[in-house]
Amino acid sequence: MNSVQQMQRPTSAELDAADPLAGQREAFYAPSDGQLTAYLDGNSLGRPLKATSAKLASFVEDAWGSRLIRGWDEQWMDEPTAVGDRIGVVTLGAAAGQVTVGDSTSVMLYKLIRAAVDAQAGRDEIVVDRDNFPTDRFIIEGIAAEKGATIKWVASNPASGVRTTDLEGLLSERTAVVVLSHVAYRSGFLADAAAITAMVKEAGALMLWDLCHSVGSVPSNWTPGVWTLLLVAPTNTSMAARAPPRSRTSTRRSRTDCNSRSGAGWAPTTPSA
Ligand SMILES: Cc1ncc(COP(=O)(O)O)c(C=O)c1O
Repeated sequence: MNSVQQMQRPTSAELDAADPLAGQREAFYAPSDGQLTAYLDGNSLGRPLKATSAKLASFVEDAWGSRLIRGWDEQWMDEPTAVGDRIGVVTLGAAAGQVTVGDSTSVMLYKLIRAAVDAQAGRDEIVVDRDNFPTDRFIIEGIAAEKGATIKWVASNPASGVRTTDLEGLLSERTAVVVLSHVAYRSGFLADAAAITAMVKEAGALMLWDLCHSVGSVPSNWTPGVWTLLLVAPTNTSMAARAPPRSRTSTRRSRTDCNSRSGAGWAPTTPSA
């Protein structure tokens, strides 16, 4: 083999033929006009699975249609944590009890950041970078106005992303929560989550990582530790991940228990990503 042959790269067709995931394509719906070869603009709205149609129909007819209100206690109340456990193992390397499936990413962002500010009595500053995903910034601006909190903007390089040095001078005893994206959505920059989380923890603040562009795309392992909340949206759902509540008397909860749980059980995970 000469040097030119050695340098030849495989063609797209050859890579496709060798792709162990290629067969999975058939599991998803594609636009009926056949015009779309690759869908790279999914954000939090991926292609639906074909299996979802039958499962939705079965849910309406069998689970909801036949069990009616009994469905809550028989199954549905446990689904967020049961499904969260399975997703957490596969996508985050998280342990059971650390991940729960919630509302849309934006709704969960609001809930988590709002709860973080409330949980940090005497701290009235929220730190976020100017280049973070627009929804994240808009939600933080709303919460700051609502709570009378101050936003400390991180001026990171938009061509890369947030580094530990960008946070210097911004963290203090007034910092309630720091909100950053693990992967910068424009540049693809991967933040040093472990080092940044350690800095934030040192300042006594909470760290919230938006993992929308990270989970399932880059290797990461978010193992139990201290002061981190994770928000991820690998498909069309969002999940909040955290360590289990410090005391948990029952794994099954009634609807009234659930109400009293909101905003509680915060805490602890530290990434080793
Ligand atoms: C990084 C990031 N954060 C937040 C959001 C908001 O998600 P949603 O519109 O599903 O609430 C998105 C959506 O694409 C996102 O990519």
